[in-house]
Amino acid sequence: MIEKIQQYLEEIENTTAKSKDELEQFRLRFISRKGVMSELFDSFKTIPNEQKKELGAKLNVLKQKAEAQFQSLIEQINDSNSKEESGSIDVTLPSFKSDGTIHPLTKTRNRIIQIFERQGFSVAEGPEIEDDFHNFTALNFPENHPAREMQDTYFITKNPDTLLRTHTSNVQIRLMEHGTPPFRSIMPGRVYRNEAISARAHCFFNQVEGLYVDKAVSFKDLKQTLYHFSKEMFGKDTQIRFRPSYFPFTEPSAEIDISCFICKGDGCKICKHTGWVEIGGSGMVDPNVLEACGIDSKEYSGFAFGMGIERITMLKYRIGDLRLFSENDLRFLKQF
Ligand code: PHE
Repeated sequence: MIEKIQQYLEEIENTTAKSKDELEQFRLRFISRKGVMSELFDSFKTIPNEQKKELGAKLNVLKQKAEAQFQSLIEQINDSNSKEESGSIDVTLPSFKSDGTIHPLTKTRNRIIQIFERQGFSVAEGPEIEDDFHNFTALNFPENHPAREMQDTYFITKNPDTLLRTHTSNVQIRLMEHGTPPFRSIMPGRVYRNEAISARAHCFFNQVEGLYVDKAVSFKDLKQTLYHFSKEMFGKDTQIRFRPSYFPFTEPSAEIDISCFICKGDGCKICKHTGWVEIGGSGMVDPNVLEACGIDSKEYSGFAFGMGIERITMLKYRIGDLRLFSENDLRFLKQF
């Protein structure tokens, strides 16, 4: 029996467990009542009394060793499991629910993109830091012409001029100078103008411009496209109206008004009691702009329009102060 105990002691000391199965096997053999211990205690009963003291002590040592080893095996297995866990990240798990919401301007931008995509427009983007040619000259702004002052520009360098784009029309030029018609794209993006910050103006804001150039594009295509947009964006009863205007890059040019969807034309504070609210500018692309981009203006014509994303968002959600969009106040943002 003493030999057996010695043998088991060695076996216990040499046991390692790499898996829960191996741990369970150890438990069944050395801890459980049905394992080797019960066998040893059974034979303990049959040995002569004078040997019982010495053997009993040895048996107890064996039992304690088995239990201590069992505990340390459990710890080893837990350790290696947690190492595995921290080493491999399950990227398919759902993320923690965050406090964030989609910014109202992003919401409007996404909705605008969706409406125009359904009419066959793609989305084009371009640089915010631009040269004079793409922001002004190619858009038919003559050198030293006061029209350049319509948009108070932030210059980065002078001669040659680099500047923060004052509109996303630069993307129209970049699209046309590198491709061949037809073009049918919208250009959402941030623009900059040196204006005093107030509830109604900011030195940076977002625009979405649109361009459609093909053979025989006419003003009625412009009207229909914007009419459809207005009904989708502001409700199916929305009416649209064009007022003559001036932009260097379009001829003829027009401001786009929609019927006031708040008072339905009765007159309210938002529409200043006129029944109409302005949402942007538009017109037929000036032949000079097409030619500056290497497009034959006798063969092709096009329309363009531009709208402020802040303006549309303010109308849609009745927001009274433009500054709220860039102040990151969670009390405001959480409402969207
Ligand atoms: N680029 C003009 C602006 O920022 C908007 C516009 C675009 C007007 C296209 C007409 C046609 O003021």
